Amino acid sequence: MKKIVVSGIRPTGNLHLGNYFGAVRNFIRMQEEYNCYFFIADYHSLTTHPHPEHLRQNVKQILATYIACGLDPEKVALYAQSDLPETAELYLFMNMNAYLGELERCTSFKDKARQNPNNVNAGLLTYPTLMATDILIHHADLVPVGKDQEQHLEMTRVFAQRFNSLYGQDYFKLPQAFSYGGDLVKIPGLDGSGKMGKSESGNNAIFLTDTDDVIRKKIMRATTDSGPVEMNQEKPEVIANLFLLVKTLCAPEVYDAFDQAYKNCSIRYGDLKKQLAEDTVKFIAPLRNKIEAILADDAYLEKVRRQGMEKAHESAAKTVREVRGIIGF
Ligand code: TYM
Repeated sequence: MKKIVVSGIRPTGNLHLGNYFGAVRNFIRMQEEYNCYFFIADYHSLTTHPHPEHLRQNVKQILATYIACGLDPEKVALYAQSDLPETAELYLFMNMNAYLGELERCTSFKDKARQNPNNVNAGLLTYPTLMATDILIHHADLVPVGKDQEQHLEMTRVFAQRFNSLYGQDYFKLPQAFSYGGDLVKIPGLDGSGKMGKSESGNNAIFLTDTDDVIRKKIMRATTDSGPVEMNQEKPEVIANLFLLVKTLCAPEVYDAFDQAYKNCSIRYGDLKKQLAEDTVKFIAPLRNKIEAILADDAYLEKVRRQGMEKAHESAAKTVREVRGIIGF
């Protein structure tokens, strides 16, 4: 039996390099080996983006991006979370066994509550139970995500285990976060601290839909410091982050040359940024063109989404039927 893989992305905007290298890059390889369900987490996005104009355009945009990046709708199920109404029912059951204290302690809840104190809604609080639902509804073994989702995966295992012991059955598997190479990835933002995409405004992110000019401008404006003053000194966070972007997008010899220049204090950040900008343009331009072409074909996107939904529905309906039975309905 092939292992089962589930992962999703919230449609709060276009995908950025963090989403790509933290998640989608793994999806592309995993589709060749596993039984994959990749969805657009549109219920999740209501916690911060409740308006229809966000949903309609962004759901399509992510579906087109998944395909442009190389996901094959014949190999994997691509669907929108809201196309699976079973999700809502399992979410209800999951919420019965999730405790206020553990939900309040969740880092993403605390961050979002701090960022937007006027909209600390119950959906935000129970975000981890909805995410656990997405994963458990297909009995996933592996969940390809970036480092920022590690805690949610831990909580998913807690909820699964709690359900199993409450009902005395080994029903849910305990899924693991996954990335090729072992370590979960955290792509830094352009402002020198934290992850790419950490602010919903997207100022610190490079999107797969950014034009060449926008990419160049954003990178040339990325935060740096006044440069190294001692030979072989350690890089401060803002510079280490910039180097991590170079490592991710440029050739290894380019990285090594700039690293050497940093160590011997001859580095010019302007040169590094120009190189990074050109390599990023080279990476993004073909993807952006593909995304645009796919977006123009509404009928194809609808077909893909329907096909994905049918496959996901089969597995979700079975789980919810079984869970109802276990609970005693
Ligand atoms: P979201 O929409 O914030 O991000 C989607 C995926 O991109 C990864 N990611 C990053 N990885 C590395 N560096 C970054 N700077 C970076 N920014 C984002 C995230 O780790 C994620 O893998 N809760 C999820 C969506 C979700 C989900 C699920 C994921 C809902 N249900 C079930 C997996 C399984 C989220 O908000 O991701």
